Amino acid sequence: MRLRAMASDGALKYPVIAVNDAMTKHLFDNRYGTGQSTIDGLLRATNTLIAGKVFVVAGYGWCSRGIAMRAKGEGANVVITEVDPLRALEAAMDGYRVMPMIEAAEVGDIFLTATGDLNVIDEPHLKRMKDGAILANSGHFNVEINVAALEAISRESLQPRQHVTTYVLDDGRKLHLLAEGRLVNLSAAEGHPSAVMDMSFANQALCVERIANGKSLACQVHPVPDDIDKQVAELKLKAMGLEIDTLTEEQCRYQNTWQSGT
Ligand SMILES: NC(=O)c1ccc[n+]([C@@H]2O[C@H](COP(=O)([O-])OP(=O)(O)OC[C@H]3O[C@@H](n4cnc5c(N)ncnc54)[C@H](O)[C@@H]3O)[C@@H](O)[C@H]2O)c1
Repeated sequence: MRLRAMASDGALKYPVIAVNDAMTKHLFDNRYGTGQSTIDGLLRATNTLIAGKVFVVAGYGWCSRGIAMRAKGEGANVVITEVDPLRALEAAMDGYRVMPMIEAAEVGDIFLTATGDLNVIDEPHLKRMKDGAILANSGHFNVEINVAALEAISRESLQPRQHVTTYVLDDGRKLHLLAEGRLVNLSAAEGHPSAVMDMSFANQALCVERIANGKSLACQVHPVPDDIDKQVAELKLKAMGLEIDTLTEEQCRYQNTWQSGT
């Protein structure tokens, strides 16, 4: 997002390939990597029981849907908040409850943000939360939960466990913030397993090679070339010992004709 803003201002001084946008990056690293390591961070920090809890996930992007999927698998009642109607619709049809954060704030036991956005959990939400709610972020820096607002409405803060800060609000309610609102999967756990980061790093290596060896690219943000994305998927399948079918000549002809199949 920042690099695209730089490019449109003419401030980007070299070409960039947006590896995050590769299918073999965000469909796997963001979804399964963040999904698993976020739950890992939450559990290492709190040892809380997820089953039966109302688990609010802010966003239904690649990271947040991974977290939602894993929380659902652990038996949570998952609520999704979104600003994008398409993604909210997907969340609803994937079987989650969808509602604005101001409503979710009142019912949630655990809140996890992964939107890339600012103050997704803000003062009005904090003021409505239940005693004992757990708040964590797995999205962008420490900006998704308004920690300054949390401090401002609290009379004291305690550190009952490593990575847990308990804020005692003026009315006596306690809210537990994990990892100071920073990425909980990196702070309280170990980040993603290498078995999913390998695809992200393969994309980076192959894209750097393409930039170094290819024709000079404009100082813009470029997509990962399709052939690199496909190559990474093929390499990963091979590493996993999996084989797939290949289209026959007859199937290729059938897929590319307009003279039959209607
Ligand atoms: N923790 C990690 O290890 C890790 C790994 C990969 C990416 N990330 C970060 O996670 C964030 C999300 O990445 P992604 O790939 O899922 O992005 P994404 O663009 O696929 O999803 C973000 C979603 O958040 C929604 N959103 C934005 N503002 C919102 C708001 N105020 N309330 C509710 N929803 C809102 C968007 O509509 C979108 O659907 C990014 O900041 C990314 O850098 C973290």
